Amino acid sequence: MAPSTRWLVLCLITQLHLILAQTNASTIFIPEANTIIGINLPDDGSNDINFYVSSPDWYQYSAIGFGSSMANSLILVIYPSADHRSVTVSPRFTDGNTEPTHQPLKITLHSGTELSPTTGQMTANGTCHGCRNLHTTSRDSNSIASQKDAIPSDVQTAPVMFAVGPNSGAFSSDDLDARIRRHVAHGIFNIDIAKSTGPGGVGTPTNVTQHVSFPDDDSSLKKSSNKAATAHGILFAIVALAIAPFDTLVAAFLGRRWPKLHVVTGSTYFLFVLGAMIPGIVISREHILTAKMGTGHQVLGLLTVAVMFVMVVWGFVVRRTQGAGGPAGGWMKQVHAWGGRGIWVALLINNGLGLKLSEQTKLLMLGYAVLAGGVFVFLIPIYFCMWRCTSARKPKTTIEEDHELYNMPSIYDHEARYGYGRQ
Ligand code: HEM
Ligand SMILES: *[C@@H]1O[C@H](CO)[C@@H](O)[C@H](O)[C@H]1NC(C)=O
Ligand SMILES: *[C@@H]1O[C@H](CO)[C@@H](O)[C@H](O)[C@H]1NC(C)=O
Ligand SMILES: *[C@@H]1O[C@H](CO)[C@@H](O)[C@H](O)[C@H]1NC(C)=O
Repeated sequence: MAPSTRWLVLCLITQLHLILAQTNASTIFIPEANTIIGINLPDDGSNDINFYVSSPDWYQYSAIGFGSSMANSLILVIYPSADHRSVTVSPRFTDGNTEPTHQPLKITLHSGTELSPTTGQMTANGTCHGCRNLHTTSRDSNSIASQKDAIPSDVQTAPVMFAVGPNSGAFSSDDLDARIRRHVAHGIFNIDIAKSTGPGGVGTPTNVTQHVSFPDDDSSLKKSSNKAATAHGILFAIVALAIAPFDTLVAAFLGRRWPKLHVVTGSTYFLFVLGAMIPGIVISREHILTAKMGTGHQVLGLLTVAVMFVMVVWGFVVRRTQGAGGPAGGWMKQVHAWGGRGIWVALLINNGLGLKLSEQTKLLMLGYAVLAGGVFVFLIPIYFCMWRCTSARKPKTTIEEDHELYNMPSIYDHEARYGYGRQ
């Protein structure tokens, strides 16, 4: 053999050795999310965790967590770095099913960490130092000192969570405390502690799942439901696009004949608003941005509901004073009527702000704007017709009817008489 050939063979053998080298790592391939995760627990007495996570960058983030529920588990969130060439790995904690916040744990990133310009795959190959048992490495921050062990030492398998964030365009940041959104999918698997303990790190994990098991033998990726947010959005769309205009029509035109009708539709309207607000308040707690109820959408929403409550009470007061034959109080009815119109406009606008806050697609926002505009275009002729009808019938009103009107006035009949549809 020529010396050069000998070198080539030697080289090949060493390379082959590298490829065949078994690493002591648990790896999992999640085909639905095109994700590979590898975990290795070095046996050097360090309490480090070597991790490897590779996911497509169409997700806002890819995250792993050590535990079976979000609360008090160490979570590593991975997202593209600001220059879009590498990834940011942010260690985080939370105390419930809410957006986790960054905690200063030491993370080292190794070779192989990148955002591939060809495949768009974001890959983190790193070590979380002293992360296996966070209490003994307790830091100044109480929140970390009180966490449970990420990987307990007295068990054979340990649960690891996985979650991916929604597609959010080209999200990228170097900020370890960057705001993230709720996941679109999540899963849990168990790593085999003995088989993932050893030297050599995670190696180069491939799409082979090994040394992992699944709770209830269910290896599927779960779609994260977001029922509260969907209910909140749909209920408010129904309120602003159907119930509010219907109640306004009833109040303006049918109130004279059947004054109690507006009491019924108005109360339904108010109950719907309260019912739609409750899931909104529940989901507000989930994200740091919304937990303090300070965003424009939340402030306008709460103000609108407060004004609506006042207007409901106001409406009953107007009915009371008139029913008791008190002063007609035209200005009081005007306040109620204009308050009602203002509430409707505020609801229409606030739905738009809500769609913006939840980063809905342009198409959905446009669809909403078209629907909202359509409701106005649809209602204008109806208002006009009804105004014409009611004012045409007016001269025929008999004295008896007028008497009846005086006893059971509607809080809106003022508009019906003086031309609600005229503006
Ligand atoms: C803004 C950030 C986050 C929010 C608001 C959030 C919210 C929630 C909520 C409400 C649930 C209950 C189940 C559901 O309704 O689908 C849940 C479950 C879950 N989350 Fe998160 N999450 C966030 C981030 C993360 C991250 C970064 C991970 C990382 C692994 C994660 C892992 C999980 C897992 C595995 C479950 C299912 C297990 C369980 O129900 O406890 N979450 N999350
Ligand atoms: C990940 O890092 C380890 C430790 O530095 C290294 O041995 C391994 O080759 C890296 N994996 C990849 C895929 O680059
Ligand atoms: C670590 O990997 C080596 C090489 O495959 C293997 O011989 C050894 O048994 C493994 N150790 C454990 C604890 O699984
Ligand atoms: C894993 O990767 C290999 C080589 O790239 C490919 O042939 C194989 O089909 C993949 N397996 C799965 C389950 O995707």
